[in-house]
Amino acid sequence: MNPFLFVTDLDHTLVGDDTALAALNEKLDYHRQQYGTKIVYSTGRSLYLYRQLATEKSLLPPDALITSVGTEIYFEPTEAQCDREWAEVLSQGWNRDKIVGIADNYVDLTPQPESEQNPFKISYYLSESAAEEVLPQLESDLVDRDLKIKLIYSGSKDLDILPSNGDKGLALQFLRHKWEVSAETTVACGDSGNDIALFRGEEKGIIVGNAKLELRQWYHQNQDKTLYLAQAHCAGGILEGLEYFGFVK
Ligand code: GLC
Ligand code: MG
Repeated sequence: MNPFLFVTDLDHTLVGDDTALAALNEKLDYHRQQYGTKIVYSTGRSLYLYRQLATEKSLLPPDALITSVGTEIYFEPTEAQCDREWAEVLSQGWNRDKIVGIADNYVDLTPQPESEQNPFKISYYLSESAAEEVLPQLESDLVDRDLKIKLIYSGSKDLDILPSNGDKGLALQFLRHKWEVSAETTVACGDSGNDIALFRGEEKGIIVGNAKLELRQWYHQNQDKTLYLAQAHCAGGILEGLEYFGFVK
């Protein structure tokens, strides 16, 4: 068997079925020890909320951790400092204060807790009923003022405003190039809107069986031989996909 770069979202992807997680962990741990496979978590959670999850669930220590929807990369999850080189990439054309000033005029946007805000991520709650009107309006409001942003709406409730240079997929590309891993030997797994970016590149992708509507809709419009929609949920779906692509037996 060959080493591969394994990248996975946490909530409702890797985490959600404890029995399947234990079985997957065993395979991945063995693969890492035997063949040098690398394990990366890519989560919407901040480092603070990641650490909370790590106390509740049995997670293998990752080789790198991407938090906050791709806006922070940690090579040592025990470190407080995220990767500076990546922060430099994100800072290009980004003006946080100006964006917040505009977004604050929208009454339908409720700021998420302070722990989920960071220099390159501005997060709100936005109801599904308001989203259809607010998202295009907010986007053109920001883009018309020449602000380099990207809006990511997940789970019909979370809105993240990110730099146009950043998201889970671009963070994955950054890591892949740093570690010199090919797209063919990279696989990413996810279940919701903020994971769509993971599936836009040439890497292989596994969409778990319990994926949210926004990701299912995207998949049906973007089917490709590099993408696999699993039957099983959460870690069970990941294992199914890894076997489908021949990464594990
Ligand atoms: C996580 C983060 C939140 C974000 C959401 C969707 O729940 O804590 O800030 O909006 O993921 O990306
Ligand atoms: Mg998720």
